[in-house]
Amino acid sequence: MRRRALIVGNWKMNGLIEPACDLADGILFGLGQRADRMLHCEVVICPPATALHALHQRLGSGTLKLGGQNLSEHESGPHTGELCGIMLRNVGCWYVIVGHSERRASGEGNEVVGRKMAAAFRDGLTPIVCVGESLDERERGAAEAVVREQIAALLPHVPDARNKRESLVVAYEPVWAIGTGRNAEPEQIVAMHGFLRALLTEALGAAGEKVRILYGGSLKPANARTILALGDVDGGLIGGAALKATDFLAIIDAVPDEF
Ligand code: PGA
Repeated sequence: MRRRALIVGNWKMNGLIEPACDLADGILFGLGQRADRMLHCEVVICPPATALHALHQRLGSGTLKLGGQNLSEHESGPHTGELCGIMLRNVGCWYVIVGHSERRASGEGNEVVGRKMAAAFRDGLTPIVCVGESLDERERGAAEAVVREQIAALLPHVPDARNKRESLVVAYEPVWAIGTGRNAEPEQIVAMHGFLRALLTEALGAAGEKVRILYGGSLKPANARTILALGDVDGGLIGGAALKATDFLAIIDAVPDEF
């Protein structure tokens, strides 16, 4: 099954407004030179929330889309320091990362991640839900069990509407591969993406076939061609290499033509 490739840059806590605009300009310029590639590849950047408004003014609703890095499960109200989905929409976001391991590490559990995904759908955002095991869990042979639980907590919150179900994005990000320079091996990626696909189709039926499954964790120009060509890898969630336009564009160039 062919799914439109999705390349997402997660800038994390990097970038004041001006350098963020410069980086986005560099990426946008590169995308302009790759118009044919954009027909089968969707590109999203998730900058710090403070840069979203300026980037929205700059980018409009063009080829380079915006996403948030997190959202509150609540719609509004007394939640100091939080941002809700409507606020992200208000500054031009189409997507939002949910349950990144760096947030799970500070106490965000599976139940909260499920409710945040529901909030994203409710507020008209496409959630990119991160799952993945720690090194300890992999070494204990528990990687699949951990990911199964993470997915199970999402399922009750997946909307019934077919177009929403199909729009869900799941990112497999083994925690030990994030920011370490050590990507998961192709066999490990193929095995986990296949496992995720099976879980999703079992739970969501035909819509599960349409869900895009991204790989994340030290994805860079040097390994992108290999990883993005693997079965059931529909794109990537990129941290470090998304902070340099040339590297990010090189990853986009590595998306196989058959997408
Ligand atoms: P990385 O980060 O590409 O720097 O490993 C990926 C992520 O955290 O989404």
